Amino acid sequence: MIPDSFIQDLLNRVDIVDVIDRSVPLKKAGANYSACCPFHNEKSPSFTVSPTKQFYHCFGCGAHGSALGFIMEYQGISFVEAVHELAKTVGMIVPQETRPEDEMRVKALPGLHEVMQQAANYYKAQLKQSERAIEYLKGRGLSGQVAARFQMGYAPAGWQNLEQIFADYRQETLKTAGLVIENEQGRRYDRFRDRIMFPIHDQKGQVIGFGGRVLEAADAGAKYLNSPETPLFQKGQELYGLFLARRAIRDAGRVLVVEGYMDVVALAQYGIEYAVAALGTATTPTHITKLMRQTDEIVFCFDGDNAGRAAAWRAAMNALPALTDSLRLSFLFLPTEHDPDSYVREFGKEAFESFIGQAVPLSQYLVQELSASNGLQSQEDRVRFLNEAEPILKQIQAPRLGLLLRKRVAELADISADEMRSMIKLPETKRSPARSAPRQTRTTMSLQRRYALMAIMQPQLVQPSDLQGLSQINPDEVLLTQVLQLALANPAAKPVVMLHQLEASVDGVVLRELQRELHLLDESLDFALELEGLRKQLRELVVQRQQSSVVDRLKEKPLSQLTPEERELLKSISQR
Ligand code: UTP
Ligand code: MN
Repeated sequence: MIPDSFIQDLLNRVDIVDVIDRSVPLKKAGANYSACCPFHNEKSPSFTVSPTKQFYHCFGCGAHGSALGFIMEYQGISFVEAVHELAKTVGMIVPQETRPEDEMRVKALPGLHEVMQQAANYYKAQLKQSERAIEYLKGRGLSGQVAARFQMGYAPAGWQNLEQIFADYRQETLKTAGLVIENEQGRRYDRFRDRIMFPIHDQKGQVIGFGGRVLEAADAGAKYLNSPETPLFQKGQELYGLFLARRAIRDAGRVLVVEGYMDVVALAQYGIEYAVAALGTATTPTHITKLMRQTDEIVFCFDGDNAGRAAAWRAAMNALPALTDSLRLSFLFLPTEHDPDSYVREFGKEAFESFIGQAVPLSQYLVQELSASNGLQSQEDRVRFLNEAEPILKQIQAPRLGLLLRKRVAELADISADEMRSMIKLPETKRSPARSAPRQTRTTMSLQRRYALMAIMQPQLVQPSDLQGLSQINPDEVLLTQVLQLALANPAAKPVVMLHQLEASVDGVVLRELQRELHLLDESLDFALELEGLRKQLRELVVQRQQSSVVDRLKEKPLSQLTPEERELLKSISQR
């Protein structure tokens, strides 16, 4: 654990422009610097670096972050490595890694990451000792290198093996981490026993969960056992193999999403290192958004069986809200009886990659599936087709993709574009100015949100009285309260440090929105003036809210019971 204060100092000390310019030569463009984005393929520069905000942001692929984030993404290294790397460039010495006990604001419970890493090390060491486990992996065609690359391990048979490595087997952390299970009598035992272990890493390369596979196929019970949901690990957010695949994804310009752990590992064994797997769950919009940050081409690859087909449709449905016009999303169906593991083993890398070329683009897949079971001959057929298409079309925010799909659906249903438009009410298409991000941004930003942004830009201008009257129900005001408190505690903080501190308390989705909004903020604004204006509006809002609650209370009383002052107040307010 590196103390948070050090990271703040570091971010304050470095200049992101220097940091990025070393790897990606930047050109001055107005208040910002720009270049062709190193994280996706493009011909004209949409990658910008803001010296005032100390962020980079790509309007093409949505990649964004601080100097630290850039180094992690660009070099494909972990957070800790990136801190060391960055510290070196400004001659700072990273303090001795201390126990996190004094770091009360760590996001997850202290020690959770450490026990996961210790367990991973243990399982890895145990693999070396187990003939049987090694034989199993060899039997599946895996080399020692690939097993090492994925840090695979083996959890030996037996109920309390972890007692050997954790001095206190009863510590709460082991349970929270999902490494041990406690029965009703309060007796503890290891969750993973006699299984091949697949550590799951987050985007910083830290172990946050495990998948464990039985060695014998015919075993009773689940083939795979996964870590439960823990403060570190939410299945719907993580993709197996993403940390290791980042480099390869960038080089290949695409990511392959497969179904299984073994698929990812086997593909890597055959030289296809840009594959990741959803963890036995349907791919979620969060998955898609995460992947879109790495590349603009996503190929979903599904097993040829019925389960695979069903999973494909679910993935398509989940992808709809996250689609953009610059994203290429396609579906690849393996021959029945094959999964990527068996396919690549049988036919090799080249055949697999040329097969990827046959993936069906999302729009084609949607239309194909919608009309598959429908002859479109009778009126009723076409009505049913339109009924099924409507909710799908409604979810697509990407303007061009949405338009083309509607046209195709109209053609198939044999109606005109106008008829189509009048029948299906679409989400309001957002008229976005040409230079705004292709990813959807909030169309209207609340006063509170805007004030929060200004306070992040100019924390020294925040006053204690700004906190007065803020509601703790309205999410934007909750956020604003947090920002204001941080600003008051640390008026000299740079925006990037403010955001870093917010990570501890603010939801990841909101944080990403904030970052995006910060980027879209016009650099030429007079932030102080802007802030003063917003403060006035906000005070007005708070006063109005207080008055209307007074009015509501007074209105409940019969007029005769009001004091003269109250009557006066009511009159003066309602006259406004
Ligand atoms: P598969 O059965 O396709 O797994 O399930 P696989 O990776 O190809 O495994 P092998 O080849 O039989 O070793 C796909 C994924 O679904 C989840 C796992 O994440 C698995 O990788 N799964 C499957 C479970 O979580 N539990 C199970 O019992 C089975
Ligand atoms: Mn398999």
